[in-house]
Amino acid sequence: MRAVRMRLGERSYDILIGRGLIAKAGRCLRGWGLDGSCLVVADRKVGRIYGAKLLSALKGSGFTAKLFSLPPGEEHKTLHETERIYRAMLEVGLDRASFIVSLGGGVAGDIAGFAAATYMRGIPFVQVPTTLLAQVDASVGGKVGVNLREGKNLIGAFHQPRGVLIDPSVLATLDRWQLSTGFAEVIKHAIIADARYFGFLEKNSARALSREPACMERIIMRSCEIKAGIVARDERESGLRMILNFGHTIGHAIETVTGYRLYLHGEAVAIGMACASAVAARLGYLSGGSHRRIIALLQKYGLPVRMEKIPVEKLLRAIPRDKKARGGKARFVLPERIGRVFVTEGVGEDIIRAVVKDMSRG
Ligand SMILES: NC(=O)c1ccc[n+]([C@@H]2O[C@H](COP(=O)([O-])OP(=O)(O)OC[C@H]3O[C@@H](n4cnc5c(N)ncnc54)[C@H](O)[C@@H]3O)[C@@H](O)[C@H]2O)c1
Ligand SMILES: [Zn+2]
Repeated sequence: MRAVRMRLGERSYDILIGRGLIAKAGRCLRGWGLDGSCLVVADRKVGRIYGAKLLSALKGSGFTAKLFSLPPGEEHKTLHETERIYRAMLEVGLDRASFIVSLGGGVAGDIAGFAAATYMRGIPFVQVPTTLLAQVDASVGGKVGVNLREGKNLIGAFHQPRGVLIDPSVLATLDRWQLSTGFAEVIKHAIIADARYFGFLEKNSARALSREPACMERIIMRSCEIKAGIVARDERESGLRMILNFGHTIGHAIETVTGYRLYLHGEAVAIGMACASAVAARLGYLSGGSHRRIIALLQKYGLPVRMEKIPVEKLLRAIPRDKKARGGKARFVLPERIGRVFVTEGVGEDIIRAVVKDMSRG
């Protein structure tokens, strides 16, 4: 078993990573000082596969635990589902001494965490993330929340979990697209923070893509360490945490223009990272060799690096702009080499337009 410490003063906690950890969940939670009753809020599909095992591990350690199923899908990350969770919590008699366990991808983690943050002004929660994206990204950092019809993640809170349990063997049942979308965030971590990790991902792509547990454990650990290190220095996203947005400026614009239907999040981010790298290469920050290595790595992990028939002007208009900055400038995270990025508002619209045109098919 491996452990990554999320260092946040009195809100510090452990992210435990190891094969078979779900079966040991009860003992881990006891170790974190939890006691009493809990509601396991599970993505329905994931609950069917791993719910019984988690419940029996919790009951085996003397916890009272009940399963609550969420309909799978981003469209259910809503206040409506949150209200159903609150009702289930009341029915089971959860009080301020109780806690929530989330079981599923980022959707289950975000909504269960939000319910925990708000129920009786906040109770503890534990994350058991089951997609690669949730294991390396959504479950680290304490951002929880739900969507409104008007926009994603508009309602939310910072609520750090008591701990995170990651069992890489659950990745065996994940479909291949969901796996790739997680690898986009993994590759992002390597580009923003660790050239050696980037080299590891280059060398071990076959092992990683076949989800070899030992290799996945190592990847999940390194990615959690990188994200946890950044969050520890900027919990409330006032500065440094921005570098985690590498690839997300254009990625979000692609998701907006395509109505979140054409690409999974990680795929849009992969195209966004390809674009940001091209911008950095054009401006002379990133060498041609490093640019080519980034593109090749994304492709190796089954991610797109060009976009389909997206109207260029529409995409440019959808790029999120910082309203506080003069002239509403777009903020880009650009690589200056593999393992190091910087944040800038100084990318001219002409360069973005040229790169986006270049990266568009059709
Ligand atoms: N809080 C944060 O900091 C943060 C960061 C990134 C993303 N997010 C959020 O995470 C969400 C996306 O998360 P996601 O990509 O994990 O999506 P998801 O939770 O919708 O899961 C994707 C699909 O995989 C299935 N699934 C999950 N684990 C499985 C397993 N082990 N085997 C088989 N099927 C499995 C689910 O049923 C679902 O259909 C978004 O709502 C996003 O806003 C939050
Ligand atoms: Zn992302």
